[in-house]
Amino acid sequence: MIKPHGAETLNPLLITSTDELSAAQHEAETLPSLLLNSAAAANVVMLGGGYFTPLTGFMNLTDALSVAEKMHTVDGLFWPVPILNMTDDVSEIEGAARIALRDPNVEGHPVIAIMQVEHIETATSEELDTITQQVFGTKDTAHPGVAVFANLGNKIVSGPIQVLNLSYFEHDFDGTFKTAVEIREEIAAIGWEKVVAFQTRNPMHLAHEELCRMAMERLDADGCVIHMLLGKLKAGDIPASVRDACIRKMVDVYFPQNSVMVNGYGFDMLYAGPREAVLHAIFRQNMGATHLIVGRDHAGVGDYYGPFDAQAIFENEVPDGALEIEIFAADHTAWSKKLNKVVMMREAPDHSPDDYVFLSGTKVRELLSEGIAPPAEFSRPEVAHILMEHYRANP
Ligand code: ADX
Repeated sequence: MIKPHGAETLNPLLITSTDELSAAQHEAETLPSLLLNSAAAANVVMLGGGYFTPLTGFMNLTDALSVAEKMHTVDGLFWPVPILNMTDDVSEIEGAARIALRDPNVEGHPVIAIMQVEHIETATSEELDTITQQVFGTKDTAHPGVAVFANLGNKIVSGPIQVLNLSYFEHDFDGTFKTAVEIREEIAAIGWEKVVAFQTRNPMHLAHEELCRMAMERLDADGCVIHMLLGKLKAGDIPASVRDACIRKMVDVYFPQNSVMVNGYGFDMLYAGPREAVLHAIFRQNMGATHLIVGRDHAGVGDYYGPFDAQAIFENEVPDGALEIEIFAADHTAWSKKLNKVVMMREAPDHSPDDYVFLSGTKVRELLSEGIAPPAEFSRPEVAHILMEHYRANP
């Protein structure tokens, strides 16, 4: 099976022994606390589940800058996005060697992790600008990821952590939320060797479904893991429970049994395009996938990235040998009226734009909100039905 990133074995930071957990809970009661922001809590969940192997906790400022500028930590680990715990108020934890990190996303703010504090540093606005520009490719606060990052504070609290729980994900997405450890075990148990991962934050329409099918066929893969984002999204994106229902229905009806696993991970979307695509590849390698589908405008938003920038970064900026996972670089896919099937556009050079069924996201939302199913060339009727119900209940 494919090795985890930068390590022989996965390094999940979640405490699993009940004795250790009760000792940690006991200790946490005695420690000064830091209330995390949602982005940091999402990092804790990813670290807890082994997705961010081989990291042992939150990065300090030097590593964050090195990762932002060179995609490597100071120690030489290949890593594309700083994993940070930022705040603007450290008054409660100043001078503390160990602190309890509290979960902003669960009522009562329970302790989610204990940190061994190594540094509390203040980033200058130039340093924050550098990180923003390098990671997001823009400093425009109209970019939803930049807007979140700009509000996290300028104090960077770093050090190794032990994770006590995985926040709201296990409860709210029971059966769908999985750790990298669990997915690796499932892949091993089913005996898949060549495994394609599909990243998604949307309900899957026909083009997405066909993308998975094409990748599986062309790579001669044993199976596909549809791995959906379950954390926070920008306003207007479809809630995870609805996306989950759509995807499960689509897989049940249209894929052979035991060829696709459907599950998800607890991370807030960054919308960082190419850099996020590389992070996606790392944590898919950690969960045991050998390939990640990277299509059009992967992890993008608006017009901040070119449609295939997230593929180009793997060609041009990821050093040879830095990753074991490979990408399946997919062209824009759409229904061809001429061929009566979904095609990759570069493979239909005789087609003009009119030969495809294109619907903008806005148009699709409009149709669904009015209770009109998009055409079958765009969306499976079963998926359209679930989405129409959602829009009917949430006009
Ligand atoms: S993402 O932010 O998670 O990337 P989304 O769920 O829309 O958004 O996309 C999931 C994956 O499908 C990404 O790899 C994306 O590039 C790809 N994709 C989505 N739509 C198309 C399309 N029409 N053609 C090619 N690739 C696509």
